[in-house]
Amino acid sequence: MPKPFHLAWFLQGSSAQAWGEAWTGHIGQTWMQPELFLNMARALERACFDYILLEDSSYVGESFGGSTEIYLKNGLSVPRQDPSVIAALMTQVTSRIGIVPTFGTYAYHPYLLARLVATLDQVSNGRIGWNAVTGSSDFAAMNFGLPGMPEHDLRYDMADEYMEVCRGLWGSWEPGAIIADRKTGVLVDHTKVHAINYNGKYFKTRGPLNSGPAPSGQPVIAQAGGSPRGRKFAAAHANTIVVNAKGIEAMRAYREDVHKHMIAAGRNPSHCKVLYLINPILGDTTTDALERKKRRAATAAARIEERLAHFGKVTNIDFGKFNLDKPLPDDVTTNGHQQNLEQFRKLANGRSIRETMASYNAVDLSVELCGTPDAVAAQMGEVMQAVGGDGFLFSMPNVNRRTLAEIEDGLVPALQDRGLMRTAYEHKQFRDNLLAF
Ligand SMILES: Cc1cc2nc3c(=O)[nH]c(=O)nc-3n(C[C@H](O)[C@H](O)[C@H](O)COP(=O)(O)O)c2cc1C
Repeated sequence: MPKPFHLAWFLQGSSAQAWGEAWTGHIGQTWMQPELFLNMARALERACFDYILLEDSSYVGESFGGSTEIYLKNGLSVPRQDPSVIAALMTQVTSRIGIVPTFGTYAYHPYLLARLVATLDQVSNGRIGWNAVTGSSDFAAMNFGLPGMPEHDLRYDMADEYMEVCRGLWGSWEPGAIIADRKTGVLVDHTKVHAINYNGKYFKTRGPLNSGPAPSGQPVIAQAGGSPRGRKFAAAHANTIVVNAKGIEAMRAYREDVHKHMIAAGRNPSHCKVLYLINPILGDTTTDALERKKRRAATAAARIEERLAHFGKVTNIDFGKFNLDKPLPDDVTTNGHQQNLEQFRKLANGRSIRETMASYNAVDLSVELCGTPDAVAAQMGEVMQAVGGDGFLFSMPNVNRRTLAEIEDGLVPALQDRGLMRTAYEHKQFRDNLLAF
């Protein structure tokens, strides 16, 4: 019998999904209301997904041609509602699935973050995760009064300390601190709630946390570090890592590298699930799926500037100032997402920016998946077997009710029939389900 794997979904903000695409109803107006996102949480829980990760970036892009125009006109990573609000609402219409909002370590004082995450964990009965990102954009930093982002690796050094503060605060309530005895009138045993008096190089806090404890003790941490420093950070702290590694070899190598770092940090590698990004193309028939793939490639090729604007937003590179019909100059570097730029350069192999972007993440992400639900389920099983684990993160920018139905009612039953996916949650809390296999 094959081993089941984990599935999660990457929701690119509670915002106008798939603007300009078919099957999106009146998304230009309806995105402000949570119905689509709540439907999504219910659908993915029926489908027994481990979690939904809510992306965030807290700034309006301005990296293409030094203007906000292309971002605002086309709804590129904007608007973005605060992820904590939709996350809280999602917890109230579900009972098993994990909900993982993104919060940047540059944007919150660790005390506020630890309190927010503990509160979300309380209202969800232990189903909250935190996608711990360091942030990458100077524009985002400026929204918080900073002159720009600290240097890439320094951000991770600071984030290491940040995690230590949060762990200390979540641990500031010992198990059993809440007595809630109506006879004696004692709500909380004050001897079990402690200040942490943290005095680090970057952060200071006194504690204890006034929200009370998180039901899961230490909430689940998600991470996506791709660079060598980012991977080390992820391996030290994360219970799940999401990565766009290109092809079976790179997927396997990434997981092995993370496991090595985990062992070096004294952790058990089975305590962190590495999920690979996919954007499967499903069709009623193979011909239908291939036709959809052709359309997806054509759309990607027709939207080079928009896609470069998005790529420039995460790498802080203004592609608007380059001749797109020439290769990217060798001296261009990034203080943003390093792994993405490295992958782009590898793919370019001397080709122009335009040609490279036409194929960069155009029809595939970690691996290409295309066919009927049953064929794609089989492909996913083969990929997982070759890689060794642990599952996939759906990163489908075209979120709409039709796409969700294709996954819930088409692909997931095909995976379950093959024994590749759970048919019911094993536990009540998020971490327990994530580590169940
Ligand atoms: C699936 C996925 C989701 C991510 N979500 C966010 C996000 O919501 N906000 C953010 O600032 N960065 C996000 N990132 C960026 C990562 O945190 C990280 O910066 C990036 O993968 C580059 O790695 P590096 O920082 O080690 O260079 C995401 C990355 C991936 C692969």
